[in-house]
Amino acid sequence: MKQKEITIRYNEYTSKELSTQQSNLINQSVKAQESSYSPYSNFRVGAAILLDSGEVVLGSNQENVAYPSGLCAERVAIYTCGSLHPSKKINAIAISASSSQFDIKELLAPCGGCRQSMLEFEHKQKSNIKVLLKGVDGQLVEFDSIKDLLPIPFNCDALQNVS
Ligand code: THU
Repeated sequence: MKQKEITIRYNEYTSKELSTQQSNLINQSVKAQESSYSPYSNFRVGAAILLDSGEVVLGSNQENVAYPSGLCAERVAIYTCGSLHPSKKINAIAISASSSQFDIKELLAPCGGCRQSMLEFEHKQKSNIKVLLKGVDGQLVEFDSIKDLLPIPFNCDALQNVS
């Protein structure tokens, strides 16, 4: 038996240490929360995606009375990119959350389904997508790649035909 280890590095920032581009993207993710439709969870999530063209695409969580039919903010945003800007690369995604009902102590990290969905885009465009997270208490964290959030990935390389 061999024990293996995976190390993940990420950057923690103070608000003063963020670049203008990073803080703009975070602010846009907070703005995106305004369109959250979350009457069932009372948990508003906003995502802002920076394309390499400089355009920013926003998304927010959209819920449904049939709960599993709802969609997270990250997926709303990234599928909007796939749909409206299929040939543009994604540089970064900023994510933030707030709630009038819950005391959110932890930094919101994307759910597993969103990590998998974002990984597909990173794999397709063959370049990293940075992930910026903002906590309600002002925590600011950046990961260099979706792979850092999903270190043992399932991607389409696993589905290659045998030649
Ligand atoms: N949610 C997101 O939008 N993103 C995440 O990464 C986690 C959860 C949404 C889904 C649902 O509308 C609400 O937050 C509560 O789970």
